[in-house]
Amino acid sequence: MTTSLPAPAPLPFGQSPERPFDPPAGLAELRAEHPLSRLTYNDGHIGWLVTNRELIRAVMADPRFSSRTELMHFPFPGVPTDSTPPAAPPGAFVDMDAPEHTRYRKLLVGQFTVRRMRQLTQRITEITADRLAAMRAHGPGVDLVEAFALPIPSLVICELLGVPYDERAHFQQHAATVVGESLDMAAWGDAFRALQEYLGVLVTAKRANPTDDMLSGLAESDLTDEELTNIGVVLLGAGIDTTANVLGLGAAALLRDPRQVAALLDDPDRAVEELLRYLTIAPTTVRAALTDVELGGQLIRAGDSVTLSLESGNRDSAHFTEADSLDVGRGGSGHLAFGHGIHQCLGQQLARVELRVAFPALFKEFPSLRLAVADREVPYRTGGLMRGVRALPVAWSD
Ligand code: HEM
Repeated sequence: MTTSLPAPAPLPFGQSPERPFDPPAGLAELRAEHPLSRLTYNDGHIGWLVTNRELIRAVMADPRFSSRTELMHFPFPGVPTDSTPPAAPPGAFVDMDAPEHTRYRKLLVGQFTVRRMRQLTQRITEITADRLAAMRAHGPGVDLVEAFALPIPSLVICELLGVPYDERAHFQQHAATVVGESLDMAAWGDAFRALQEYLGVLVTAKRANPTDDMLSGLAESDLTDEELTNIGVVLLGAGIDTTANVLGLGAAALLRDPRQVAALLDDPDRAVEELLRYLTIAPTTVRAALTDVELGGQLIRAGDSVTLSLESGNRDSAHFTEADSLDVGRGGSGHLAFGHGIHQCLGQQLARVELRVAFPALFKEFPSLRLAVADREVPYRTGGLMRGVRALPVAWSD
């Protein structure tokens, strides 16, 4: 049985500058009244928008919903309406379904074990200490993104994969573009190809002279050069700007409220989960129905695109009390910031270790850390697929 729904509408998109930490206006009302609503995609396709936690989890756990981009329509303003997105190239497993996805994921899960990520803690601690020492040597008045939030995950993923950090001019900006800094699809394609070119050369070198890193380790499997290159693109793309945006945006949120900093220092693990929930820096993802599916009292037709608002699900009061407040002491257990189901973030243990080390180290080293500009001057990212801050000028008094 289906219930009647309001007319299709475009995706609520972009934050108001006054409320940079909150999901776009309109999502909370939809979640309360129509958690499964009709959505107008920007090519005219009428699909669906899911805004509550339970239904989002149901879709993400259901193999009848596909991650294949060539089956999808996109609801984001600015994405061209006249072209079908290309199918995933070999190795780009994020955009694949089982069983293709399963084969790659199994190979990679073996590389991203909790144990290996824990072993990295020492190295992440050293990298963080180096960045803090550089900030202190520079003196008050630094951009926390450039000095801290961006280099830590960059250095870590470079060491893990075996990519020379010194060559970051060849990949850092492209990596930001492929994870959705911009909605310009031509720029996205150019960045993806530039990363393929850069990593293709590196993969050939690793095959010839393996070193002690993940790309060399994967080169021992039966992956082709093309597959290995595209896996490298996915990992390098996903490994930098994500954690960097949680560090930057998270610091901006914590600096607003010293009580949160005290609670963070008390229990960094809980604090990190709550920051992940509250910030939901990857706010939206899309699936395509492979067959007719009944969901939440509605019939979703084969071919319909279904947009999942992770940021809305993470503010669902059915699961999180006072969901619109940041309260790092409570932990954000059960959040959707890393997604759910077979595509749940492969790098989540790595990201957790980075965040659990970096946040407390920052506030221990600089207890008097404060914004060096008025909050309204902070350049929040409000119009892309990824939330964060472009720069965060900070100062301290000791
Ligand atoms: C997938 C968020 C850090 C690698 C995902 C998904 C989300 C996400 C929401 C699921 C997308 C979907 O199902 O459509 C985040 C956040 C991060 C983070 C919030 C930082 C705090 C990382 C890092 C890596 C990484 C450090 C390291 C390489 C991946 C990969 C996938 C993924 C490879 C695709 C997994 C698959 O399709 O099986 N991430 N991510 N992520 N993430 Fe992350």
